[in-house]
Amino acid sequence: MKMHAKDFVQMKGIKPIAMLTAYTTPVARAIEEAGIPIILIGDTVGMVEMGFDSTRQVTMEHMEYHVGAVRRGAKKTHLIGDLPYQADRDPETALANAKRLLAAGADSIKLEGPKTEVITYLVENGISVVGHTGLTPQTAKSFKKVGATSSEATRIASEAEAIQDAGAFMVVLEHIPYSLGRVITKSLRVPTIGIGAGADCDGQVLVINDALGLGDYWPPFSKQYAHTSRTIIKVAQQFSSEVESEEFPNNIMQFTGSENS
Ligand code: KIV
Repeated sequence: MKMHAKDFVQMKGIKPIAMLTAYTTPVARAIEEAGIPIILIGDTVGMVEMGFDSTRQVTMEHMEYHVGAVRRGAKKTHLIGDLPYQADRDPETALANAKRLLAAGADSIKLEGPKTEVITYLVENGISVVGHTGLTPQTAKSFKKVGATSSEATRIASEAEAIQDAGAFMVVLEHIPYSLGRVITKSLRVPTIGIGAGADCDGQVLVINDALGLGDYWPPFSKQYAHTSRTIIKVAQQFSSEVESEEFPNNIMQFTGSENS
């Protein structure tokens, strides 16, 4: 059964929340089958799937496309649609764009930074919102860890609290010192979801390409549970040599066990 914002709030302190990103139908289908309760269609899609060097080039049309693809694969999973750069620049624009992502299949909306006016406005209009602080890639100058100085740590902690108080039901904490992740997690009523923010967060999110080892760069805080790029290279090499030797498609029966029409 699909989980809603209040269900995730109730999990705080009871059970860690596992979240993955997804961008396509077959990956979303497999993640749902694995029992992951919440999928983020993040604007990281621009970097890990579209070849952009920042998330700032991602558009609303891109996000609608990917939210729709994920929804067609994962019908019973809570989906968070990410508002891309500038799509949340003021409350009215954010509401119009949030409605587009909901219409594409999202259950809730994520946005970066302490845009409390926008968050409050979305929540007042019945939209469940996920906040995001720490490293916020849409506006960051680099992907380095943030929050190491006490003034930065104080800023990030008060941003997290402001995001919660504006009405967000969950806050993503990205690439901050683990001690800061712990302090923020203890101080909030809503769950924190860490990505490079330590084990004390209420849940963890991984970009699916990082988890799959699909691509050629891995953030230091990520874990590769598979090496999919290496598998693709091996498959492509084997396919190429079988085409040249004419083993494929002649011996296709031995792999599928049934005749393809
Ligand atoms: O866009 C995204 O995938 C994200 C995660 C890194 C949390 O914001």
